[in-house]
Amino acid sequence: MKSYQSLKEQFEMLYHMKHADAILSWDEAVMMPNGGANARQHALSSLRGLSHEKMCSPLMRDTLKSAKEEGLSSAWDIANLRLMEKQYLHATCLPNKLVKALSHATLEAEHKWRTYRAENNWQAFQPYLEKVIGLVKEKAIRLSDTFSLSPYDALLDEFSPGLNTRVLSPLFDTLKEALPTLVEQVLNKQKPLLPFNPPFAIEKQAALGQELMGLIGFDFSRGRLDVSHHPFCGGVSEDVRITTRYDEKEFMTSLMGVCHETGHAMYEFGLPADYLSQPVGQAPCMSIHESQSLLVEMGLCRSNAFIKLLLPKLVKTFGAQPTFSLENLRDHYLNVSPGLIRVDADELTYPLHIILRYELEKRLIEDDLNVDALPALWDEGMKKYFNLSTATDNKNGVMQDVHWPSGAFGYFPAYTIGALMAAQLYEAMEGELGSINQLIDEQRFDVIMAWLRKNIHGYGARYTFDELMRKATGKPLDTHAFLNHVKKRYL
Ligand code: CO
Repeated sequence: MKSYQSLKEQFEMLYHMKHADAILSWDEAVMMPNGGANARQHALSSLRGLSHEKMCSPLMRDTLKSAKEEGLSSAWDIANLRLMEKQYLHATCLPNKLVKALSHATLEAEHKWRTYRAENNWQAFQPYLEKVIGLVKEKAIRLSDTFSLSPYDALLDEFSPGLNTRVLSPLFDTLKEALPTLVEQVLNKQKPLLPFNPPFAIEKQAALGQELMGLIGFDFSRGRLDVSHHPFCGGVSEDVRITTRYDEKEFMTSLMGVCHETGHAMYEFGLPADYLSQPVGQAPCMSIHESQSLLVEMGLCRSNAFIKLLLPKLVKTFGAQPTFSLENLRDHYLNVSPGLIRVDADELTYPLHIILRYELEKRLIEDDLNVDALPALWDEGMKKYFNLSTATDNKNGVMQDVHWPSGAFGYFPAYTIGALMAAQLYEAMEGELGSINQLIDEQRFDVIMAWLRKNIHGYGARYTFDELMRKATGKPLDTHAFLNHVKKRYL
């Protein structure tokens, strides 16, 4: 156990560095004056460099080797050692030259993306994206050799360990078959929305957001809510930082954004306290993380029961309005509206945005699809899934997301896998706890969170998403629960 003990100490120090990195990054997005940007980038890259050096050190290599011979007995320690080795292999299998080239190319492409997206200028942007894709493919091949996965599966595995195209493709095939018809049926019966009366003062929105966080169970003694350009959940389990953004013209985005990030935060709070500083004590996977935010946002906070709770709070906060009725509020929160932009999409059309990206990025990595074919293929996909066209509008088409220029290939599927998991977990939870709507009526979020903590949060990274799903719901992930949920909710 001596070597394993020493490994635990080395990983504990890496966790402390990650903690510092997380708070510095939060500060950069929330508090930092513009003039601090350059120095902050240097500070962060020095910190990351140190952490990488420590991970790749001969000491790490040797202790890993001897710890594997010690024969651990606890299942937690065995999982922890496996994750330590995986992190070590991941850090050492890519040559420094490639890591530097990729970091340079993605910074440049992100920067160009900001300018050229605003100008709708695909021609000028394309060479920068091509460069990133070339390097990501090189990286995918290295990872693929090290972990014996196909190149695209190796990228998926980085964000969601255990996720692969063999699992994804059949799930996505079912969704792309079912959803377009469902969307059409919903659009045919959907009533027009009655507008609310702005303005909605930002301080009032913030106070109401904090009240909802408290209701769900957010622990303000180890977390806080602030404002940033893009909402996120950052920090570490002992100090969780979530953000939202406000618009005086409407309150819905900020409130549901807060509910979503609170779902992420509850997961962080619930990670196993004894292993927080170890790889096994951390969230393993973007898909599971997203399942927790979507379960809270889509499952709990857009439900009839929650909207019933919300209505008197809205009246108290903003004053009574003729269109503040249960029915109209519900229509607003469950409005289905096929559009060009993924981040604005509703629950029903969101997966189609993801499937479009999945199909293209898989071909980019594995089939040598030419980058210059992307705008036309994007337009074709939008026509097929949404009856919409982006023929001359690359800004709101292939150029809308920062993921590809920043090198994050294999990330998108996590959003939809998260949505499928959330629905399946909700169903299993209801099977055990009885009506979730009734629990929400009674404001018993503690009961709901205790179930999630027991079945998901408290396991940290001990299991892959597939093992977790089988344990928590008794079956592998499929599309039934999600499709049942959306049919029940929208039809
Ligand atoms: Co999220």
